[in-house]
This record gives sequence, C-alpha cells and structure tokens, in this order.
Amino acid sequence: MLNRSLALYEKASRIFPNGVTHDSRFTAPFPIYASRAEAGRKWDVDGREYVDLWMGHGALLLGHCYPEMVAAVSEQVARGTHYGACHELEVEWGEWVTKLIPTAERVRFTSSGTEATLMALRLARTFSGKRKVLKFIGHFHGWHDNLNVGVLPPFDEPVPPGVLREVADTVCLCPPNQIDQVEAILDRDDDIACVIVEPTGATFGVAPLRPGFLEDLRRLTLQHDVLLIFDEVVTGFRCSPGGAQSYYNIKPDLTSLAKILAGGLPGGCLTGRRDIMDLLAFRGDREWDTCRKMPHQGTFNANPVSAAAGIATLKTIEDGTHIARANRNGEILRNRLNGVISDHGVDWVVYGDFSGVKFLPDSGPMDQSLEAIAGGTYDYRRLKAPDPVLRDTFRASMQLEGVDLHGLTGLTASVHTNEDLDQVVRAFDCTLDRLKRQGLIGT
Ligand SMILES: Cc1ncc(COP(=O)(O)O)c(C=O)c1O
Repeated sequence: MLNRSLALYEKASRIFPNGVTHDSRFTAPFPIYASRAEAGRKWDVDGREYVDLWMGHGALLLGHCYPEMVAAVSEQVARGTHYGACHELEVEWGEWVTKLIPTAERVRFTSSGTEATLMALRLARTFSGKRKVLKFIGHFHGWHDNLNVGVLPPFDEPVPPGVLREVADTVCLCPPNQIDQVEAILDRDDDIACVIVEPTGATFGVAPLRPGFLEDLRRLTLQHDVLLIFDEVVTGFRCSPGGAQSYYNIKPDLTSLAKILAGGLPGGCLTGRRDIMDLLAFRGDREWDTCRKMPHQGTFNANPVSAAAGIATLKTIEDGTHIARANRNGEILRNRLNGVISDHGVDWVVYGDFSGVKFLPDSGPMDQSLEAIAGGTYDYRRLKAPDPVLRDTFRASMQLEGVDLHGLTGLTASVHTNEDLDQVVRAFDCTLDRLKRQGLIGT
C-alpha cells in the first residue's frame, strides 16, 4: 500500500495547486513521495523500491548520489553555500563548459534552463535589433512567456493563459521537419532575430527531427542572417561530451545548457559566440553604460554548491565512457521492450535515441513506425499527445511493478545495472497484461 504517499498527497493538495510543485509530477491517482535515492534506484516514503527512469528530469546521467559528486558537494557546503562574491569554482566550471562545448567562446551562468533560453532570446534581440523568434511546435524551452507558446497539445490553441497575445505574436510557430515552411517564414519576415530548436527534436526526441534537418536549418539561418540557438538543456553532455552540436557537427550561434551541467543541482548557462555574449559586458562607464548592454542579474547564478556538483560531473563524463554506457542501456532496453511487445502481439512500439526510451501505444506496425519516427514523417501531434488515461494508468502500473518513469518516456543512466533493466522488462510485461485486462488496449 502507498498509505504515506497518499496522506502526504492529501496534505499537499491543501497547500499546492494540484498538490504538486511541477506540472509533470502530477499524475493520477496521486504521485509517490520519494524519500531517498541511490545509483539507478529510488525509494518512496512507504519503503517501496523503484528502478528510476526519470533520473531527475534528465539531470542525472550518472544516476543518484554519484560518489565524486556527493563528496564535492559535501565539501563545498561546509565551505559556504553562497559567497555573494566571485569564486574560484565558477571559473573552473566555466572552463569546463568552454572545454567541452565546441562553440562555447563565452559563458554566463543562470539558475535554470528557463533562464538560459530567456537570456538567449533577449541577447538575440539585442544583437540583431529584430523582435521575433521562430520556434517549432511541440519544442519546450522552459516556461517563460517568450517561448511558452505552441508547446503542449492541443497545438491549435498555442497561447497559454497569462501569456500576452502581443508577446505570443513575436513567436513564429513552425511544424518540425518542414524546412520549406521555415524558409517561407524567413523569406517573408525580416523581423526574425533567431531560430531556436531542441536539436534531437521535441522533448529529447519524443518527436525526432529528420536526418539533415539541423544542417538545413544552419544553412538557411546563415543565408538569412538569423541567429541559430540550440537548446541543449537536455542534450548537453548527454548526446556526447560536447552535446548534440558536437555529435552532429553543427555550430549554433548560442547554446542553452542546464540539468547535467549542474550535476543534479539547480543551474544553467548560456554560451556561444563571443561577439553576441559580450553584449552582457559593461563597456564604458559602468553606472551610465548606454551602449547596448543587456542587463542580467540572478541571486543564485554560478552558486558554489551547484558549481562543485557541475565540475565533478563534467570531469566524470569528459571521456564519453558514461555517456556510452547510458546509451548502451537505452539501446538494450528499447530492443528488449520491443521484444515484449512482439510477444504480446500488441500495436505498440518503443523508440528513442541515445539514452531515451519512449513508449508509443497504437503505433501501427513496429518496423514501419520505427522508420517513420526516425525519419521524421510520423505525425508529431500523435507522438506528443498520448491518451492521458492510458498514460497515467501505464505509469501507475509500472510503479506497482517497481519502475518510475515520466508518463510514457524514460531515460537511462550510466549506472543502471542489468538487474535494473531486467526489472523494467518484467514491469512492462506485467503492465501490458494489466492494460489488456482493464480493456485499455486490445488483445
Ligand atoms: C529542452 C529544455 N529546455 C529548457 C528547459 C527548462 O529548464 P529548467 O526546467 O531548468 O528551467 C527544459 C526542461 O525540461 C528542457 O527540457
């Protein structure tokens, strides 16, 4: 039973809207409350153990409590958690970013990925003198007004409540993988400062980009003198030590990073071309600097504890071994889960790239679906909009079988063991049986 989680949820519902502190943590009938975590597993307040495939919303490539990270953080906490001053660790942390990310000429730390993309947009406007951004439908870049448009289904109601229409009007929405539409927008509108993209497709490849799309984007943006921003908040240090840009060998003008950057603690940064990033620098008289400096503050920018966690993590992933292990775990899991699907004879597919594992119900025939998804021709709306009842029942069932993941998507870590993967496969097998019994999927 989940008595303590339920009791906490009832108490939380009297404090927090929906009882949660992040929309994605809301799940029916109620969320589990975690009490501790280690390596590839976590435990809830009722003492139940889970293989964790959520991995800190993607912030944990090395799993929970990686020993070097814990040691670095513990040491730093005892030396001070906020100096209100510049410090040595921020310099070292910044050096790691410039060492690993190919286009990192300058770095500015923020407290989150949301702040990093906000900075990217404002800098792009400052640099170009233009107002608008082209973004892809379904791509998520944080929850600030400037980009929180056209993210969630139904995509034909793209402006969320509270976002001003005037602000939303500065976002040119484009379906993913449609380079002709990108070109048409760039041709007809000379007020576009930048294009922003999740480089492996919406939500770390839930709706992947077709091969060649990023190259096409780079070519078009250069032709139109429009900045290209890679939002590598998830892909940074996950696709390769140098992020997706290194993996695909494409040079964006600006890159937002967070999650793995800060080793599981809060933190983000924007990095990229020096001539753009230097618009954050004072030039001339500091108090009365009217040259186009973009103001930027933030109490927790480059926090020393996050810096310690980030440095320990980036050092560990530098040689690519952990990324390769996480990717291998992802590949093994995807193959084995598709084997379970074939055994059950149901119309599902498990897909993904790198360390991503995504479940798609009602997919159509497996081979054709996998090809269409990877080629970017599968309807992105279907990929991004699962049936909420099926999604929540699936997640609850996986939890009952000792696996936690984010709805129908999961991420593998380098430290997941064969035993962890076996447990996920067994949980999925039982879950398909349960969903059939409940009449949620056909037999
Ligand atoms: C691609 C991408 N960009 C930006 C963000 C926002 O980052 P944060 O949650 O740190 O504000 C996220 C968060 O999941 C993300 O996946």
